[in-house]
Amino acid sequence: MSQEIEEIAVDLGKRGYTVYAGAGALERFPAAAKDWRPRIAIVDENVLRLHHSWIEKAVEPDNILVIPPGEASKSLREFARLQDRLIELKVPRQAVVVTVGGGVTGDLGGFVAATYLRGVAWINVPTTLLAQVDAAVGGKVAVNRGPGKNLIGAFYQPRAVLSDTGFLATLDRRQMVSGLFEHLKHALLTGDAAVRELERDFAALARGNPEALTRAVAQSIRSEALFVAADEREAGRRAFLNLGHTLGHALEDRTGATESRLLHGEAVGIGIWYAAILSEMRGWIGARESMRMERLVRGLRPVEAWNLLEPEALMEKMLQDKKRLGGRIRFVLLRSFGRPELVEVEAPEILAAHAVLGERMGLPTTEHQRTGLPTPKRHEKEWT
Ligand SMILES: NC(=O)c1ccc[n+]([C@@H]2O[C@H](COP(=O)([O-])OP(=O)(O)OC[C@H]3O[C@@H](n4cnc5c(N)ncnc54)[C@H](O)[C@@H]3O)[C@@H](O)[C@H]2O)c1
Ligand SMILES: [Zn+2]
Repeated sequence: MSQEIEEIAVDLGKRGYTVYAGAGALERFPAAAKDWRPRIAIVDENVLRLHHSWIEKAVEPDNILVIPPGEASKSLREFARLQDRLIELKVPRQAVVVTVGGGVTGDLGGFVAATYLRGVAWINVPTTLLAQVDAAVGGKVAVNRGPGKNLIGAFYQPRAVLSDTGFLATLDRRQMVSGLFEHLKHALLTGDAAVRELERDFAALARGNPEALTRAVAQSIRSEALFVAADEREAGRRAFLNLGHTLGHALEDRTGATESRLLHGEAVGIGIWYAAILSEMRGWIGARESMRMERLVRGLRPVEAWNLLEPEALMEKMLQDKKRLGGRIRFVLLRSFGRPELVEVEAPEILAAHAVLGERMGLPTTEHQRTGLPTPKRHEKEWT
């Protein structure tokens, strides 16, 4: 078993740590956690139900704190409830918090670990594909408040991450696809060879093939680890990891309270397609690259909620986003695969891209004609 586990170093000097990825990565838990006592687990309720045998072995039963599944748990209220429990349990500074769950559990539980007694050790055990390929590495922890996501939080690195792909066997297909979109993001940021590998492994990944998943998780973590090591606090290069996220966050937020709610990764997938169109309209990537991106996004077939794309409302939302810059909106676009660039985009260009996206999705819109901006040309033959 052990030889399937990949070890990836996140090179942050004194705050550096190892990510163990693959089937059986949980075997590394005793060694990773040996320096701290007691162990306190913060666990997603669904994950506890499905995987209780490992959790109950790893942590004493009284020290398992359960959180309700869903984004609503990333709140100051849930944060305070967990802190109160730690205070009641008289958890000392030598303790380690072990988060077991998806991105919600890692973001919330990591923020609890970052702030309880000004910070206690934290080991992250991500159980969704999205958290394994993306959220679990890099130390961004946060809760939501008011108008936006992740408005209150910290940079706080875990001491180890155990990304055991065995957890993914119980994950539903929609959640798997959501994670695959973050993996697509990493492939696009890495370069053409990584995109080709994803194109090749695509069907296997969509079926949940364990070897393909381990390769994908390890590859995404390597990409994430490089960006994080180069720029821990997102003053520069790390911002490239927001590819697909400017529109993605707005979509996630706009659909949040509706029945057509998009998952984080699904929203990012649409954001990636949108970034492809903006990059193509600027003459950066060619129609061929844009088409390859589109094909990968379409191939994952996210839910049919895409007609919630009213441009004005989304633009307003993007302007409220914390990455805004005086009326212009920041996007990560691609010069080519592996060559991202952070740019500010103004309203007319955004509206034009919007119309093109709607058209390519097959939505009834002629918006692009109204804006008078050029629509990227494409050969009919290239359509499948
Ligand atoms: N910190 C970061 O850098 C970062 C990056 C990306 C996303 N995020 C955050 O991550 C969150 C989304 O994460 P997510 O997609 O993992 O969602 P999630 O944590 O809500 O988990 C999704 C669902 O899957 C269930 N689940 C988890 N593991 C399971 C398993 N093994 N089997 C069956 N069900 C399981 C959960 O109960 C939940 O219902 C968002 O809040 C987003 O903002 C953070
Ligand atoms: Zn994301």
